[in-house]
Amino acid sequence: MIDVRGLSKTFEDRKRGKIEAVKSISFEVHKGEIFGLLGTNGAGKTTTLRMLATILQPTAGTAVVAGHDVSAEPAKVREHIGYLTGDTNLYTRLTPREMLTYYANLFGLSKADRLAAIERVAKRFGLDEFIDTKIGKLSTGQRQRTSISRAVIQQPELMIFDEPTAGLDPISARHITEFIREGRSGGVTLLFSTHYLREAENLCDRIAIMHDGEIKATGTLAEILSQTGTEDLEQAFFSLADPQAAAAT
Ligand SMILES: Nc1ncnc2c1ncn2[C@@H]1O[C@H](COP(=O)(O)OP(=O)(O)OP(=O)(O)O)[C@@H](O)[C@H]1O
Ligand SMILES: [Mg+2]
Repeated sequence: MIDVRGLSKTFEDRKRGKIEAVKSISFEVHKGEIFGLLGTNGAGKTTTLRMLATILQPTAGTAVVAGHDVSAEPAKVREHIGYLTGDTNLYTRLTPREMLTYYANLFGLSKADRLAAIERVAKRFGLDEFIDTKIGKLSTGQRQRTSISRAVIQQPELMIFDEPTAGLDPISARHITEFIREGRSGGVTLLFSTHYLREAENLCDRIAIMHDGEIKATGTLAEILSQTGTEDLEQAFFSLADPQAAAAT
């Protein structure tokens, strides 16, 4: 479903100079799998997901997403994915219903399909109590639930989610993880980023641990533990992302 080969992104930052945000990473995400990108702040997760969602052009390397190359056929890639950005940049002057209507129309849904789609996400993510309130007046978690609804309004076969549960209370977070699990039973593929070790452990079929622009380990939880000679994901994570702290414990 996703095939990433030697993907790199270098930013030219006026103050900081050249920043190698992603350094020649390679990994695959198989159809129907939940794949977690786990990493520290600044590891390069968002940059990676933005390249896969065709928001950013890679500096080097290739990525094929849902059968299409991100550089050659970005529009085709976008037709197949539901992308949730990390920045909750929503149209503050619209209501969730207006925004969802707008996106449903972009995907060419008929009126009946659009109404059904909005009802489906409203129920799934508990939007009803604020669906007609301007987004500018919503709480962080309410905005996040609106963003996720927007990302999946067209029922994509592949979801790319940047920190889907960030800013959510435990109950709302549970709604999202349930939604993700249901998706998997329906054959939907999910690639998502997270800082939460527990979330990665509970949800993922496979995990990649990213640090400083590189993928340090990839595999099932059991594979990562055996690769790192550790007993749990927390130890594995520290041994890869912060070896000094790991040695001190
Ligand atoms: N547009 C940009 N211009 C310059 N540098 C950037 C840009 N976007 C990201 N970076 C840098 O690239 C590196 C990786 O950032 P990225 O946002 O991909 O990390 P992340 O793993 O998503 O971190 P977090 O967990 O904090 O969200 C950081 O050093 C960041 O400052
Ligand atoms: Mg990020």
